[in-house]
Amino acid sequence: MSTVATLGVDDVATHAVMLLDHRRVDLYAEALAAQVQPGDVVADIGAGSGILAALAARAGARRVFAVERGPVAHLARKILMASGLDGIVEVLRGDAREVALPEPPTMLISETLGNFGIDEDTLSLFALLTRRCAPEVRTIPQRVEPMMALLSDSALSSELATLTSLRGLDLRLLRASLVHRVLPCRLDPSILASAPVPAGSFRVGLDVSPRTLTTTLRASQQGEVNALGGWFRAYLTDTILLDTGPLNPPTHWSHLLFPIDPPIFCEEGDVVEVALTPRYLPSLHLWTWQVRLGSELRQGDAFSALLGDARDIAAQISSGGLPPAVQTRLEALRIAFQGPAVAPAEMGRRLFAAYPDRYASEADAEQEIWALLRAYASLR
Ligand SMILES: C[S@@+](CC[C@H](N)C(=O)[O-])C[C@H]1O[C@@H](n2cnc3c(N)ncnc32)[C@H](O)[C@@H]1O
Repeated sequence: MSTVATLGVDDVATHAVMLLDHRRVDLYAEALAAQVQPGDVVADIGAGSGILAALAARAGARRVFAVERGPVAHLARKILMASGLDGIVEVLRGDAREVALPEPPTMLISETLGNFGIDEDTLSLFALLTRRCAPEVRTIPQRVEPMMALLSDSALSSELATLTSLRGLDLRLLRASLVHRVLPCRLDPSILASAPVPAGSFRVGLDVSPRTLTTTLRASQQGEVNALGGWFRAYLTDTILLDTGPLNPPTHWSHLLFPIDPPIFCEEGDVVEVALTPRYLPSLHLWTWQVRLGSELRQGDAFSALLGDARDIAAQISSGGLPPAVQTRLEALRIAFQGPAVAPAEMGRRLFAAYPDRYASEADAEQEIWALLRAYASLR
């Protein structure tokens, strides 16, 4: 399953892949068993299939709110009922920023962690939500650290060389665009050219999403450095650490590779300064990065790796071309209804008529339409 290409959080296979990530599930289960106390009111933010909500209920929570904005909420409701947990866990469909919680939680739990830990804007979401919680609310995770290292990746160098000219085609412009792209991949530990270092350490519930991350990386060997590597570690509790880095057993998360082009030549012990500015859009890794060694400066900007000129890109974004899962789903609904867009209430009515088993009511189906439209609008 881990090799299946998935279409984002509205794809059931994505949830299967996350459930099959044993390290992820085991560490969360351990953390919940250690932290949940009898009487706790827990809110699981981004509940997906309901796994964390279920673990919190089994760990002794009095009441659990499973908040989920995507259509997987309907599946979670049924899964939790089939598991006999519907008396304790209540699924609330909607964006956690907007959903009214029936009782202030004493504990917030979530696994809305992107490949770089903070890239799904989790910190700002938690900072907002803790204001609606009981005083002294506890969180899982407690702390998130985006991690970085220098890389010396000979495979990348040879691929970039091939992409300069191939069978008579001058590909220098494609190559120039590609080196601004953040590449999700699996990093082999042998290509690390520095010790991994946290590019910030953020307290979940207290800190907001940073504007820029800065850190310094010390070269562990002499030679060319042609990329930065990125991943995260999350302290689920003081002692339970989820580290997705290349020196740890694999998880379903990807590592990230930020090309440095042209490469910089480092002596062992050289200190490289790094600044990284995220743009908080789900899954796109549309960041800028800056790498400095002495007077040498390299810069990357993933926005300039998007195909099309500026007008074209603006049109792609405003036409809701992203993320693919939202686009695919809206398009599928449009085709299913065989016609031009209709009012959300009418779409909800038709959706419920077509799939009565999937929704509790027309209003419930209409909520899905609204959630899709909101996701679509948030990209504008
Ligand atoms: C990485 S999945 C984790 C799902 C589940 N908690 C698990 O551990 O398997 C994150 C889920 O959070 C949901 N999500 C993200 N941001 C959300 C928000 N602001 N409000 C509600 N749900 C959100 C997504 O739709 C997705 O289903």
